[in-house]
Amino acid sequence: MKALIEKYDHIGRGIAYVNNKVTFVPKVVVGDYVDLEIIKEKKNYQEAKVIKIIKPSNSRVDHFCPYYALCGGCSLQNMSYQDTLKYKKEKIENILQRIKENIKIEVIENDHPLFYRDKITLQVRNKVIGFYREKTMDIIPIDECPIASKSINNIIPLLKDLNIINGQIIIRSNLNQELLIIIKSNDKLKIDINKLKEKNKIAGIVLNDQVYYNDSFLIEVINKIIYKITYDAFFQVNPFVASKLFNLIKENITEDDLVLDLYCGVGTLSLNASLKAKKVLGIEVVPSAVINATYNAKINKLSASFVLNKVEDALTKINFNFNTVIIDPPRKGLDSKTLNFLLKQKVPKIIYVSCDPQTLVRDLQELKKQYNITKFYILDMFSYTYHVECVCVLNLR
Ligand SMILES: C[S@@+](CC[C@H](N)C(=O)[O-])C[C@H]1O[C@@H](n2cnc3c(N)ncnc32)[C@H](O)[C@@H]1O
Repeated sequence: MKALIEKYDHIGRGIAYVNNKVTFVPKVVVGDYVDLEIIKEKKNYQEAKVIKIIKPSNSRVDHFCPYYALCGGCSLQNMSYQDTLKYKKEKIENILQRIKENIKIEVIENDHPLFYRDKITLQVRNKVIGFYREKTMDIIPIDECPIASKSINNIIPLLKDLNIINGQIIIRSNLNQELLIIIKSNDKLKIDINKLKEKNKIAGIVLNDQVYYNDSFLIEVINKIIYKITYDAFFQVNPFVASKLFNLIKENITEDDLVLDLYCGVGTLSLNASLKAKKVLGIEVVPSAVINATYNAKINKLSASFVLNKVEDALTKINFNFNTVIIDPPRKGLDSKTLNFLLKQKVPKIIYVSCDPQTLVRDLQELKKQYNITKFYILDMFSYTYHVECVCVLNLR
């Protein structure tokens, strides 16, 4: 079946119209003229795969990853980097249309669109180490990942020597090329530290939540602030764009701000806000992250304090007259308790950091009843994937 790819959907798939029916096609670009095979048929749409590219679009570029055909990770590889940004901007503009919002969007690029990720999660099944094959639980064996940091790429080929038969390996890295290897497995492992250390800087190995070698944390330095990050605490996956995010937070904080930082992790946004704000309090649910955040404030000689609790439970107990709230929730966005609390408090300024535009726009729809969206940024934290980090500043009307 021959068709022209006319536009994209919100997860980077091409859209063609076959017999007037919306047809989603992965790994194509607008302007490709393709031969398709329908693989799923529904009442209102269908899904297809490309049999042959009859005439490639002028804007098509070659993919850079050897696993592109199988891995579901970086699905925008046939676009130029600038085209991926254009796609992401248009996608967010479309999503914002749902709440009739025409705010000007500023796009903040990733200066390192390859080798940027400081964390990958590999699955191990029957000794095969790799990523899940797209939309399945099958494992694609991998030896490299061109969006992961070079230090992560250096260690991947050595992982097969660990003798893990089944389990999971998380590798985290920092800008100093140090590595933290976090293993979950019940197998009898063979860990030759000297071999691993030959060409890699191993900060630590954690096996089934116990320190196996050296440390259970990494130290990262971004914009001259030092962060201790324990193996199970969240940290932004792209340190280059994280640097820009932290500057953006600082830019949008003033000397009069009394800041509540919800979902604060190891204190990144809190500490950057504290460079200008009068007072900062962070709330986070992961115990090691809160211990890190408190330590990070101390070693950087910055003034911020932290509370260990679920945001939704802590909010009603806060004894602090804040006038600014930073929110950086997980993908599911705000729960109704937190959203209602914010609406009731009528806090003058909210800075909402989001890694999921669908839940962001759902929450903005409520917040917009009382707030104007005054600034909106897209940060290309997850280059070559369809994922987008957004930051918006809301001011009380
Ligand atoms: C997207 S991360 C943001 C972390 C931090 N702002 C940063 O930039 O590094 C979300 C954080 O929310 C925490 N979290 C998830 N659910 C939570 C809840 N109900 N209450 C408090 N923290 C929560 C996670 O542990 C994670 O650290």
